[in-house]
Amino acid sequence: MTKTSFLCLCDILRPYLTRENTRFRSTFPVEVRVGVCLWRLATNLEFRSISHLFGVGISTACTITQHIVTAINRVMRPLERWKLPQVAGAIDGTHIGIIAPAEDPADYYNRKHFYSVILQAVVDHRMQFWDINVGWPGKVHDARVLANSSLYRRGENGTLFPGWIERLNNVDVPVHILGDAAYPLLPWLLKPYPVGRGLTEAQTHFNFRLSQGRMTVEWAFGRLKGRWRCLLKRCDVHISFVNQIISACCILHNYCEIANEEWEDEDIVDDVDDLVDPEIGHQAICGQIRDALCEYLAQ
Ligand SMILES: *[C@@H]1O[C@H](CO)[C@@H](O)[C@H](O)[C@H]1NC(C)=O
Ligand SMILES: *[C@@H]1O[C@H](CO)[C@@H](O)[C@H](O)[C@H]1NC(C)=O
Repeated sequence: MTKTSFLCLCDILRPYLTRENTRFRSTFPVEVRVGVCLWRLATNLEFRSISHLFGVGISTACTITQHIVTAINRVMRPLERWKLPQVAGAIDGTHIGIIAPAEDPADYYNRKHFYSVILQAVVDHRMQFWDINVGWPGKVHDARVLANSSLYRRGENGTLFPGWIERLNNVDVPVHILGDAAYPLLPWLLKPYPVGRGLTEAQTHFNFRLSQGRMTVEWAFGRLKGRWRCLLKRCDVHISFVNQIISACCILHNYCEIANEEWEDEDIVDDVDDLVDPEIGHQAICGQIRDALCEYLAQ
């Protein structure tokens, strides 16, 4: 690790490490503490040797290491950036306009009255795509696209996310993604409370926070289409090649985001699917998870 990366790491951890109420208070500078921990993790040296190198007691070196490891897990897991517990991404679908295909054109004619295929995407907190599913005809409902995707199969068989659990209001909250009303409520996919049934103040607040989190995927679509305008109006290639174009543009989008490239903002097309998933027959546990998060955010 270069000195720059090391100092940057210290700055990231510093607010947590210098907080008054942390369990372990240390008089050693943050740089020494982080140094002890990294040295231990990188070399696997005995604490006796590390103690000599850094001029700290043996048991202190051990405690410091535990504490820094905890801090890294608390502060630096990507999940922490959402300002909502346990969120790993936001999902949505968007229509990509195409020329009416010769085969089954009616299937591609969407509710907004143009021919399209659907891009389903999950983005992370940096607005980069980490899962995409392209090519379903525009008429298909978002929930059905999801149900057919490998994302769904991995979500259901428990291989999508690590098993990190956070206990909130006596409920085990798993890692999950955020979706809109069109999606089903699942242990790994949370959506707003249905409006129209009369929401409590806490539920309204939860819905607001969730929609804020979901903006990341809307913004990502806006940037994607703003940068790669063949996706904005109509993708004028044969239907057999459309999926490749879309997927390449998503990859280029991530490439540009990593490189901090600029983009021209596009008015975000309102892709809200009119069909709302009725939330009938979801497992009770999903409701409990959402309620626990709702209560947690209201505190
Ligand atoms: C997904 O859709 C395809 C094509 O309609 C179908 O052959 C396949 O069985 C579906 N898979 C799942 C998991 O629903
Ligand atoms: C889970 O589902 C994915 C996608 O279908 C599959 O590749 C993977 O092998 C499955 N894993 C288990 C443990 O079932």
